[in-house]
Amino acid sequence: MNTNTKHRVLVTGGAGFIGSHTLVELIAAGFDVVAVDNFSNSDDTCLRGVEQITGQKIPFENVDCCDFAAMESVFQRYDFDSIIHFAAFKAVGESVEMPLKYYRNNLMSFINVLELMKKYNRNNIVFSSSATVYGETDVLPVTEETPRMPAISSYGNTKQICEDILRDTVASSSVKGIALRYFNPIGAHPSALIGELPRGVPNNLVPFITQTASGIRECLSVFGNDYPTPDGSCIRDYIDVVDLAKAHVAAITRMVEGKNKQNYEIFNVGTGKGTSVLELVEMFQRVNNLKLNYKIAPRRQGDVVSIYADTSLANNELGWKAERSLEDTLVSAWKWEQYIRRK
Ligand SMILES: NC(=O)c1ccc[n+]([C@@H]2O[C@H](COP(=O)([O-])OP(=O)(O)OC[C@H]3O[C@@H](n4cnc5c(N)ncnc54)[C@H](O)[C@@H]3O)[C@@H](O)[C@H]2O)c1
Repeated sequence: MNTNTKHRVLVTGGAGFIGSHTLVELIAAGFDVVAVDNFSNSDDTCLRGVEQITGQKIPFENVDCCDFAAMESVFQRYDFDSIIHFAAFKAVGESVEMPLKYYRNNLMSFINVLELMKKYNRNNIVFSSSATVYGETDVLPVTEETPRMPAISSYGNTKQICEDILRDTVASSSVKGIALRYFNPIGAHPSALIGELPRGVPNNLVPFITQTASGIRECLSVFGNDYPTPDGSCIRDYIDVVDLAKAHVAAITRMVEGKNKQNYEIFNVGTGKGTSVLELVEMFQRVNNLKLNYKIAPRRQGDVVSIYADTSLANNELGWKAERSLEDTLVSAWKWEQYIRRK
């Protein structure tokens, strides 16, 4: 950052997977931070890791963003003008079984943050959106202009609704907002001191792969090998978590420096490259020199066949580009898994 005084950023969900990596990149870029989390899907492992990597004590508040009074106290006690809002539940399958849990947490936490921004004149917010907002699209690659399709899960619906809440709040106030639509975040910090720490059975492919490799899971299921893709498995856009964290720094900097073209903007954050599940499994085995126990299972309901991003808008406007190779990302994921099992 090119300003003389340090700019502080509030990071909600800062103890989580993407939040912790973003704390590291914010500090590296010269920002001060304050993190909030209620540890509903994390513990203090990654916060301690962030402190080890940065050599700094991270100001932290154990607060539920749905608790308006507790959040208000954070706004009163810390001076910050920018917020990155990660705090949300994210398990797609669980959201279908427990929609109210997801609507309550993901909407209330966000509404509270926006209300408090208005009340305390805080200006900039980055919201964690998701490629799930595109639903079952057949437009490839997807651009930010690709129409959102009806959400397939309650989780996906919370992301669509939150985007709309942000759009309307920006239109009626001085708040500026950027929604980043993440594709499939994977990997870990090269230090292996922070990474993804799923509770229970992982929902996402890479933690399932690493847990299978370390023997916690017996066998990885690849859901479907008869899709209309070159090898029959689904295709996704896997974005390295450190690259993703840097996109947040670029988005905050854009607003702080007044370079945003509109007060509400949306950017896809992916690599622009589709990789099939079977390709990813093969690459994981090759780069880490190990053998995975996996089987082909029937297709899973709700899986989109293929989705990957057109990232030109983020490349041109944010000056951001995914840099880390998929090979390096998969090495880091395995290194993190081994570190966390030793702990
Ligand atoms: N990981 C992905 O695949 C992915 C993809 C697209 C979008 N996202 C979004 O990115 C954000 C971060 O995801 P992540 O992968 O780091 O998940 P995560 O679960 O590791 O991190 C979220 C953090 O928020 C905290 N949290 C949840 N509700 C809270 C509340 N009410 N108050 C305070 N803290 C709360 C959790 O304890 C957790 O530490 C989420 O909004 C998620 O929906 C994630």
